[in-house]
Amino acid sequence: MLYVPGDDDRKLAKADESRADAVVLDLEDSVAVGNRQSARDKVRRFLADRPRDQRTYQLWVRINAFDDSALIDLAAVVAAAPDGIVLPKIDGPADVTRLEHCLDVLEAREGIEHGSIKICAVATETPTAVLRLHEFANADLPRLIALNWGAEDLSAAIGATTNVDSSGSWALTYRWARSAVLLAAKAAGVQAIETVYVDYRDTEGLIAACREAAKEGFTGRVAIHPGQVTPINDQFTPSADEVAFAKKIVATFASHGEGIGTVGIDGKMFDIPHLKRAQNLLAMHARYLEGAHSA
Ligand code: COA
Ligand code: MG
Repeated sequence: MLYVPGDDDRKLAKADESRADAVVLDLEDSVAVGNRQSARDKVRRFLADRPRDQRTYQLWVRINAFDDSALIDLAAVVAAAPDGIVLPKIDGPADVTRLEHCLDVLEAREGIEHGSIKICAVATETPTAVLRLHEFANADLPRLIALNWGAEDLSAAIGATTNVDSSGSWALTYRWARSAVLLAAKAAGVQAIETVYVDYRDTEGLIAACREAAKEGFTGRVAIHPGQVTPINDQFTPSADEVAFAKKIVATFASHGEGIGTVGIDGKMFDIPHLKRAQNLLAMHARYLEGAHSA
């Protein structure tokens, strides 16, 4: 998901060639408050110039929080049918429910297919939100398709002066929030999206971090610079070797017929969790092929 500041013409002009699966037109933290109205106008025009049936990638909008200008932002952009809304600074699933209700009405007013505007919530930007992450496990949120996490706003919200430890890794509070988002997303049956990698010139570091996140179960990542899109896509798409090995695991189980729980492959034991992981990887690979940005 490539973020593009909604008030920046030069960056908006680059969005079409980014090859991101989704571009997020930002009305929130990358736009100065004084520029919000012009950003809303630009974002609405950008969307309207790319009607849904002509889009080759998804177009999302990050609005401001509900205690800020969320309603004004929504009223301005929904008519141009974004594919989704990123909701920042939530305090818990109730804020997502509120957005669902707003979208129910706005879609009806604009003649947009009911339920077609999806939601990604940024679920760790207030301490309350982090403590409520478990509530996503039983929440009924049909539009929610992803949870994303962020460490920048959380550190500001808790009065911290940094979010990293002396080795440069995320401090415990943020590692904990990140794990909780991963579990909350899986419990809710939605995608877990890894946070931004702010050092946008450090491609090697980005690749290593993406590889780790993908192995842990995150299925995508926020990008802030066009140069981050290809490394992110490459790392989150299962590699040819991983796909081949997963197929081998599935085929080996299949060759033993029903009723076998453990097999040996190349001198190693594989049981049911390994089979499930292989099946997950193949299913994910198939979805990536389906959703790949059209050339
Ligand atoms: N989307 C589209 N185009 C972008 C872009 C983005 N997010 N970031 C940079 N570009 C463009 C630049 O405009 C430039 O093109 P130009 O010469 O035609 O203007 C080209 O890519 C190279 O940019 P570069 O000079 O390397 O970076 P920069 O100094 O212009 O910008 C940032 C650096 C971090 C300010 C910029 O990448 C950015 O604004 N990122 C998005 C920030 C954001 O949305 N944050 C909120 C989400 S966490
Ligand atoms: Mg923010």
